[in-house]
Amino acid sequence: MPIPEKTPGWLERRLPVMSVLRREYIAFPMPRNLNALWSFGAFLIVTMAAMIASGLFLAINYTPDITQAFASVEAIDRQIPSGWFLRSLHMGGVTMLFACLYIHIARSLWYGSYKAPRELLWLTGLGLMLMVMVTAFAGYVLPWGQMSYWGATVVLNAVHTIPLIGKPVSELLLGGETLGNTALHRLFVLHFTMAFAILAVIALHVAALHVVKPNNPSGIDPVSPKQTLPFHPYYTSRDGFALCLFLMVYAGLVFFLPDLLTLADNYVQANPLVTPRDIRPEWYFAPFYAILRAVPSRLGGLLLAVGSLAVLFALPSLDRSPTRPATRRPLVRLSLPLAFVSFILLGIAGMHPPTETWLIVSRVAMAWWFIHFLVVMPLVSEREITS
Ligand code: HEM
Repeated sequence: MPIPEKTPGWLERRLPVMSVLRREYIAFPMPRNLNALWSFGAFLIVTMAAMIASGLFLAINYTPDITQAFASVEAIDRQIPSGWFLRSLHMGGVTMLFACLYIHIARSLWYGSYKAPRELLWLTGLGLMLMVMVTAFAGYVLPWGQMSYWGATVVLNAVHTIPLIGKPVSELLLGGETLGNTALHRLFVLHFTMAFAILAVIALHVAALHVVKPNNPSGIDPVSPKQTLPFHPYYTSRDGFALCLFLMVYAGLVFFLPDLLTLADNYVQANPLVTPRDIRPEWYFAPFYAILRAVPSRLGGLLLAVGSLAVLFALPSLDRSPTRPATRRPLVRLSLPLAFVSFILLGIAGMHPPTETWLIVSRVAMAWWFIHFLVVMPLVSEREITS
C-alpha cells in the first residue's frame, strides 16, 4: 500500500525547501552505470568550500600593501596559531582544484557530455574554469614574492599588447603604469569577490545538471526507472567513499608535501630591479604559458593561448555527431587521447626553459590540440561510422 503523503507544514507551504531537497538530492534518479569519474564534481565542490573557508581566515591576517604583504604571509606561516595549516590548505587546494577541474573536463570530453541537451552545462563549466583561472592568477600575486611579481608582469605585459582593449584592461588592473600598491589592492579585491561569484555560478551549473540529468558512460539516456538509482543512498555513499580517498591525497599534500609544487623563488620578496633567472608559472598554467612562448610574437602567443580555450567553447558546434562517448567513435578514440597527451606535453614544456627542443615539443603539441578540435572533430562528425 502506498505511504500517504504527509500534510505539508507551515514552512513547507510557504517555502518548499525540504520537498525540493528531497526531490533533487534524495530521490533524484541517477543512471546506474556512472563510473568513478563522475565523483570529481563532488570533489570540486568540497575543494571550493575548503578554499573559501581557509581564504577567509587568511584574509583576516593578510595586509594588501607592498611593504607589508610578504611579511604578513610569512607571519601567517610562522607565527599565527595554525596559520601554516590554513595557508597549506589554501595552496594545496589550488592544486587539487585544478587537477580535478582538468579531469572533470577530460571526462566530459571523453563521454561527449558537452552535446545536446547539456550545452549550457558545458558553457557554465567553462565559465567556471575562466573564473577559477582569474582568481588563481590574482591570488598568486598576493604573497608579493619574486614569482608573484614577475609572473604577473609577464601576463599583464601580454594583456597590454591586445589591440583596443589591452591597454585599458591592464591599466584598470594596475591602476597606473606598473605593478604596485594600487594593483595589489585591486587584485586582492578581485581575488575574493571572484571566489564568491564562483559559488553562484556553481549553483547555476548544478541546477542545469538537475534539469538535463547526468550523461553516463554509454551515452544513452536512461528511459525506464529500472535503469536509474536514487541519488541517496546509492550515490551519496559512493561519492562519500570516493571523497574519503580524495581527502587522503589532499591531506598528504597539506601535511607532508606542502612545498611540492610551489616555486622557491616565491619565498623571496618581490624586487622589481632583479628579474629571476627563469620565470615559470605554477603547473596549472604551464600549458598556456608554453603556448604563449611557442611563437615569436607576443600578441600571436596570447591569441593562440586564448584560442586554445576558445575551441572548447565552440566544441558543441564543431562536433555535430549525435554519438556521445569516444568509446563508440573509433577516430575520436584515437585523436582525443592524443589531444590529452598534447596538453600534458605543453604543461611539461611550460615548466622548462624555452630551449630549441621544448619549443618544438610545444609547437607540435599545440598544433595537434588545434587540429583535433578544429579539423578532426568537424570532419569526423560528418563521416564517421560509430559502433
Ligand atoms: C568549480 C568548478 C566546477 C564545479 C564545482 C563543478 C561541479 C559539477 C558537479 C557536482 C557535477 C555533477 C557530478 C559530475 O558529473 O562530476 C558536474 C557535472 C558536469 N560538469 Fe562541472 N563543475 C565545475 C567545472 C566544470 C567545468 C570547467 C566543465 C567543463 C568545461 C564542467 C562541465 C560539466 C559537465 C558537462 C557535467 C555533466 C557531466 C555528465 O553528466 O556527464 N564543469 N559539475
